[in-house]
Amino acid sequence: MSPAEEISDMEFNGVREFLQKNCSITLAESKKYLVQTRLEGLLREFKISSYLELIKRAKAGGDNGLLERIIDKMTTNETLWFRDRYPFEILRELILPGLAAGKESGKKIRIWSAASSTGQEPYSIAMTIREFCEANSGVPPGGFEILATDISQTALGNARAGSYDRLEISRGMPDPLLKKYFNEKNGLWEIREEIKRMVRFNQFNLQKPFAGQGTFDVIFCRNVMIYFSPDFKKELMRKFAEILAPDGFFVIGVSESVLGISGDFNPIIHKGGVVYKKSPKGFAAK
Ligand SMILES: C[S@@+](CC[C@H](N)C(=O)[O-])C[C@H]1O[C@@H](n2cnc3c(N)ncnc32)[C@H](O)[C@@H]1O
Repeated sequence: MSPAEEISDMEFNGVREFLQKNCSITLAESKKYLVQTRLEGLLREFKISSYLELIKRAKAGGDNGLLERIIDKMTTNETLWFRDRYPFEILRELILPGLAAGKESGKKIRIWSAASSTGQEPYSIAMTIREFCEANSGVPPGGFEILATDISQTALGNARAGSYDRLEISRGMPDPLLKKYFNEKNGLWEIREEIKRMVRFNQFNLQKPFAGQGTFDVIFCRNVMIYFSPDFKKELMRKFAEILAPDGFFVIGVSESVLGISGDFNPIIHKGGVVYKKSPKGFAAK
């Protein structure tokens, strides 16, 4: 088959199963075109004649990083600065003051951006913390630890580089913060060291067990659960609840909800938005 030919139902189902198994992304029937447009280039690059062969070779290993390359191509890394605004307002006005007041001396406040894509979310968190610390003397930015993880190595590479073009910057970055926290060079804006060093980037597949991550005071997991099956969302929320500190906060995307999926969280409504606290009842939905 030439890569330009339409992907067959059998091939599409093969790719769907592969994605479901390796990253839990559930593709709807209507996403055939997406598989074709995103994977065609790999067929050419690896000189492979069909999508089934591509999947077979990825499963067999051997072809350097083919499995990762497929996942990388099939993830949607859409993101922007201070996405939806309210989570960052709630962070500044409600979450950080509470956490800073209750902080045990010597213990860091830990925040996890669990699908961090190209870095806009964790860096927006870091800038919010920095602004909070400036306005509240006595709380040093060094008292916070931000872990940012994603399955996509390409997204993580861009995040670590911390360098953004005009279009990326135009998507949500407020002018005063751009001036304060970025250096412009040859049409690119590079995030300054003081923000960069607040964030640690690691590759992490949300399918993996969370043991070993420690506990977190705040978990952001936004705009990724929309790609997952109801069963996996349930499992994921249970795992998040287990590693969230008793007074911790769970922040999900505007089009995502815990309703009917998890009884482990209670909604907190503020600034027209909702974030979640761990339910004091403990783990209701196992
Ligand atoms: C649409 S972006 C969301 C970025 C950011 N949280 C936001 O809301 O702007 C979704 C991210 O989830 C990542 N992702 C998809 N499946 C994943 C998995 N199984 N484990 C970890 N990350 C995953 C993708 O690589 C992508 O960068």
